[in-house]
Amino acid sequence: MSRTLLNEWNALQSHALDMQETSISRLFDKNPERFDKFHVAHNGLLLDYSKTRASEETMHKLLDLARACDLEIWRDNMFKGVHINNTEDRPVLHTALRMPESEELMADGINIIPQIHDVLARIKILSDDIRKNKKYTHIVNLGIGGSDLGPKMVCEALKTFSDREIKLYFVSNVDSSDLAETLRKIEPEKTLFLITSKSFTTQETMANAHSARKWLREKLEYEDVSEHFIAVSANTDEAQNFGIAPDKIYPMWDWVGGRYSLWSAVGLPISIALGFENFRKLLDGAHDMDMHFLQAPLEKNMPILFGLIGIWHRNFQNHNAVTIAAYDESLKALTSYLQQLDMESNGKQVDRQGNPLDYDSGPIIFGKPGTNGQHAYFQSIHQGTSIIPCEFIAALNSQQPMGNHHDLLLSNMIGQAKALMDGKEDDDPHKMFTGNRPSVTILTDELDPYHLGMLLALYEHKIFVQGIIWNINSFDQWGVQLGKVLAKHVLDNMESETPDTQNLDSSTISLINCVKKSSVS
Ligand code: F6P
Repeated sequence: MSRTLLNEWNALQSHALDMQETSISRLFDKNPERFDKFHVAHNGLLLDYSKTRASEETMHKLLDLARACDLEIWRDNMFKGVHINNTEDRPVLHTALRMPESEELMADGINIIPQIHDVLARIKILSDDIRKNKKYTHIVNLGIGGSDLGPKMVCEALKTFSDREIKLYFVSNVDSSDLAETLRKIEPEKTLFLITSKSFTTQETMANAHSARKWLREKLEYEDVSEHFIAVSANTDEAQNFGIAPDKIYPMWDWVGGRYSLWSAVGLPISIALGFENFRKLLDGAHDMDMHFLQAPLEKNMPILFGLIGIWHRNFQNHNAVTIAAYDESLKALTSYLQQLDMESNGKQVDRQGNPLDYDSGPIIFGKPGTNGQHAYFQSIHQGTSIIPCEFIAALNSQQPMGNHHDLLLSNMIGQAKALMDGKEDDDPHKMFTGNRPSVTILTDELDPYHLGMLLALYEHKIFVQGIIWNINSFDQWGVQLGKVLAKHVLDNMESETPDTQNLDSSTISLINCVKKSSVS
């Protein structure tokens, strides 16, 4: 049954009409203590959702919708290892990756906690060794999507915790410039390549792995360069076929999606750069948020409230994008990571049963760190014709304090949220701000491994909550397949003497011919 047939959905729709005349500022006028009601804090992380056009009644109605969609049952089932990824018939257990060793979790009849901790122990041994002995000081991760964005973002975010003698590189693009630029910077003898690919068949990663090995053989002038390679993969057979010895393969599991995998051996670069203790703190922070998500009452549950505010914006206020504005330079890779996490999870057009959705699902995610974003796209956020809710994120203490920079940074963020909400009257229409533009603000005491873990798990669960409300499977990604198949067909055409142009249109054929001639004329 479509969600639009639920009474709770329809109640929200008529409530949205009632709220049309209400402005966010007016909600504050009516209740000056609004912040108290519309924020939730947990262990050094705070979510302020008071600057949204949501009343107490709105929140009640959103929570009613969540209950009507059996959100708590779905949440519990995810944590329990039920096959909630229905199109691939798999459990979804990234939360297990951060569980303590003393716990037990049965997935398909097997307690998976010991295998997770075996891999963690291997991650510790490898990263301790690299950090202590410095046999390798250049670590190059070859991976794309979830096998790149998560670890890259965390390593960037927590750079101040890292061993600066260890140089970390991430090569993802099949564009040879990406690898070539990295190869210029590394010393072959001191380099360890991590081939990170859950499937170990991803075209980009495999092309980079083969080219990296070729380069290494040429530089070192010997054939067996296998000691310079490690694989992180769920496909151990393919990794071995590449020539990686079993003891150098770090397993992943089917029950962890690529975009949810930084907590697994995909996080090796994190552990190498920051040390295993910090990697563990990251996992502990995420586990803390998991427990909060699992145990806190709905009305005080941060991921649930965060997710529901997003539902309100997307489905009942018709906002089709969200901007992530992290006022922290170290979070500059966060938006790309969240883009995959959110858009690959919730960019779906059919429900779990395969029926077309008659309501909107995941929004467009984009953003830049503050204050840079203010000088790029914030004009449109303030005065554009589309209203784009902002998610402001900041740490209260700077990782690298200097003078009053941090006050300048945070005053900008808080000022932007206020300006978006209040707007400004002006006789000159060009200088007038309509205001009434919503934002949420997430504050953390420190951007340290623990709180970053909490923040990332908060986003994972927010996306989960929204997927449940939309009745979609947030854990498959069929939408990326077609383009891959057609790229293969195009490549065959480019490289064949007798191209098979059947089913190709004149534009595609002409573009292929341009490539073949290396010329547009
Ligand atoms: O882009 C599609 C995708 O399958 C992502 O879901 C995944 O994170 C990425 O490719 C990389 O996949 P793999 O880790 O198997 O190389």
